[in-house]
Amino acid sequence: MASYPPPSSTTHADAGETETLRRTEPVKEIPGICGSPFIDRLQYFYFKGEESFFQSKIDLYGSTVFRTNMPPGPFMASDSRVIAVLDAKSFPVLFNTSVIEKKDVLTGTYMPTTKFTGGRRVCSYLDPSEPTHAKIKELFFTLLASRKDAIIPSFRSAFAARLFAAVDSKLASAGRADFNALNDEVCFDFLGEAFFGAPPSKFGAAGLPAKAGIWLSLQLAPLACNVSKYLPWFVEDPLLHTFPLPSFVAKPAYKALYSYFESAGAAVLKEAEKVGLSREEACHNLLFMGCFNAHGGLRIFFPALMKYLAVSGNGLHDRLTAEVRTAVSADGDNGLVTVAALEKMELVKSVVYEVLRLDPPVKYQYGHARKDFVIESHDAAFQVRKGEMIFGYQPFATRDKRVFGANADKFIPDRFIGEHGAKLLSNVWWSNGPETENPTVGNKQCAGKNFVVLIARLLVSEFFLYYDTFTAYVSKSALGAQVIITSATKAKNKLA
Ligand code: HEM
Repeated sequence: MASYPPPSSTTHADAGETETLRRTEPVKEIPGICGSPFIDRLQYFYFKGEESFFQSKIDLYGSTVFRTNMPPGPFMASDSRVIAVLDAKSFPVLFNTSVIEKKDVLTGTYMPTTKFTGGRRVCSYLDPSEPTHAKIKELFFTLLASRKDAIIPSFRSAFAARLFAAVDSKLASAGRADFNALNDEVCFDFLGEAFFGAPPSKFGAAGLPAKAGIWLSLQLAPLACNVSKYLPWFVEDPLLHTFPLPSFVAKPAYKALYSYFESAGAAVLKEAEKVGLSREEACHNLLFMGCFNAHGGLRIFFPALMKYLAVSGNGLHDRLTAEVRTAVSADGDNGLVTVAALEKMELVKSVVYEVLRLDPPVKYQYGHARKDFVIESHDAAFQVRKGEMIFGYQPFATRDKRVFGANADKFIPDRFIGEHGAKLLSNVWWSNGPETENPTVGNKQCAGKNFVVLIARLLVSEFFLYYDTFTAYVSKSALGAQVIITSATKAKNKLA
């Protein structure tokens, strides 16, 4: 690792060592000091909250690129110093794997013990330069390609047949339906059916969503804001943010999850052996992909999608209902959603992208500088030294007014419609890369990128095929949005 902070010289690094970017501004030192990581942690989690923590530093330094500590800090991370990149011009450097190394940085300055993952460093923690990364990611591509025809039917049987029916019955019996709780359960079954044709609840493996939740929470609690609404900060902070949480607590849950993936994913494990991966390595990776990447991601993303639909009200619901039903009657299959019908739903597509832009489910991206290079914000160019950690808080970058205009922090359902909308798509980065590009074995873009966009469109279209409109009570949870549906009007033809 290079020394930190870097030498005070503001001259360019040696030719050949520095990534030369086209620029006109002189190269500056990065503003900001990494003071006490304890104080930064308290400010971030309790006294300011994440958004004002970053905004106050932008205001203080007059720059969207600055030095700071990122929680959790002591005693979890040996070094919590980072260079924050918080605008749409500097942020994308994090996708450039020729200058950024992505080894062990999924969770930032702290990495949960590999005891959570069977002693393995799974795909999400591997840099593309590590040979196992390509083998595992390719395995996931093969799996997704082989199951492409199963996705829509699996989604329909989990969501239209189960989740919406459960919403109806909860509304009838209790006048409210907790979307998050239903989504956590149903999503797990959906993923099992979509990936392996084996929904866990019908596979003698009930209770797995809760077990996945325990396993995931123990890894992520050190990074989470708003974990406890009831404990005072001076109790919660030492409990959750100071020492790693014990992995043995998750052991029984992990064992049950492993056993499900081992039997449901038997065909994938066989495929893995053909490309030189051991069954164990592949199974730990399959489990992580299913429970952390996929289930963890959808537990955040689907409630966020429902939140924006709920707060937009009738006007948007009427337009979505009309679009979905027109497309399904023209290109559906006996009244059912098809890929061809989804392609016609411009407003549905735009709504999905807009939620992913405003509230990217994974808000933090990290990486180490492989070499000295210069990073540019809209206003200045800065010297980065080899070994320094770069950190991006994505919602600030994807709400950048210089790209998305004065209404950048508003939910505009039509934002991505038409020619102008299509041009903006390259600035949607939820998948750890531009929406106009695709994951490969050589990059760190989400392997499930196209799958996620497809099922999000399915959620919106299936919902407005089934319902005309709905209302919900929306609040904040540790994972993002909490959505309690308080009323839902079924589509006329469903009333019979
Ligand atoms: C990586 C987001 C669902 C598989 C990532 C990354 C993000 C992300 C941001 C990059 C993390 C980083 O390196 O900084 C999401 C979200 C999801 C989701 C928000 C759901 C809403 C899925 C699904 C799969 C998947 C369904 C299933 C195949 C992966 C894998 C990686 C990854 C394997 C590691 C890629 C690599 O190492 O090159 N995801 N993801 N994700 N995601 Fe997803």
